[in-house]
Amino acid sequence: MTTLPEYLSKCGAPDDLISLITLIAAQATPIRNAFISNQNYADSKNSSGETQAEMDTWSDVHLVNILAASGLVREVASEEQEDIVKLVETAPYSVVMDPLDGSSLIKVNLCVGTIIGIYEGGCMQAGKNLKAALYLLYGPMTTITVSVGKGVAVFAMDKEGCCRMLRDNVRIPEGNLYGSGGIRTEWLEKHAKFISRIENEGAKNRYSGSFVADFHQILTYGGVYAYPPSEKQPNGKLRLVFEANPIGYLASQAGGAISNGVSSTLDIVPETVHQRTPIYVGSSGMIKKIESIE
Ligand code: AHG
Ligand code: MN
Ligand code: MN
Repeated sequence: MTTLPEYLSKCGAPDDLISLITLIAAQATPIRNAFISNQNYADSKNSSGETQAEMDTWSDVHLVNILAASGLVREVASEEQEDIVKLVETAPYSVVMDPLDGSSLIKVNLCVGTIIGIYEGGCMQAGKNLKAALYLLYGPMTTITVSVGKGVAVFAMDKEGCCRMLRDNVRIPEGNLYGSGGIRTEWLEKHAKFISRIENEGAKNRYSGSFVADFHQILTYGGVYAYPPSEKQPNGKLRLVFEANPIGYLASQAGGAISNGVSSTLDIVPETVHQRTPIYVGSSGMIKKIESIE
């Protein structure tokens, strides 16, 4: 079975990018091993005002240290850090990351993951400029879903830490699953219309509270993951730089799309590191539907 470095090499990725991606993928083992002794939720809040789990900070500190030691990374923008972390000024790449996505599910042992985007140059670029994106999923298997701009492939990590290909050329089918964040009574009219339209067309609700895991399901079966705007949160909850952009890049590489309900979020040049955006991501037909609703 093709290994992760073999696949990246076949895609024509440069050697330093292959090293960086394989280094990040290898962190799935220490991160996974840290869950058992980091089960608590701290009193601290992150830059988005959300309660941090011990695993949020553990994964953040761990990944920043590893990226710093690699010498390949200029800047890191992390959900758990107020400001961009400056590393090696002359290094080729910058990393955007959600070190642990879905952290409210740690307590209940449901699937959570790590989301990563890699740019050449600095962090504050539109998602369409990503050179690579990947996410690690800590489910029954540890999997790595990756793109370097040549489609999407999924790998599973074996007990020796080797990432072996499970699927190549992943395409998001026009499926009928959906998951929507927010509180139904707070949904704005456009979102409510969209959900009732797709429900009437047979869409089935599947929502766990972990964006990365919910997206992985959509990637496989098709449909849409949404975190809509509301009166209270006009830009929804999820963040453009660490969540929307890497996942949106993977979705588009799999023939799907991402939108804020009006247009692609991959075109937005971020103004602030922690800015939020409404998100609709999944099968391209679903994204056309939300964008067509007034
Ligand atoms: P994070 O754990 O990185 O803060 O992200 C949580 C996000 C996302 O993973 C999930 O889809 C969403 O928040 C869940 O929010 P609700 O509990 O409001 O549904
Ligand atoms: Mn997240
Ligand atoms: Mn997070």
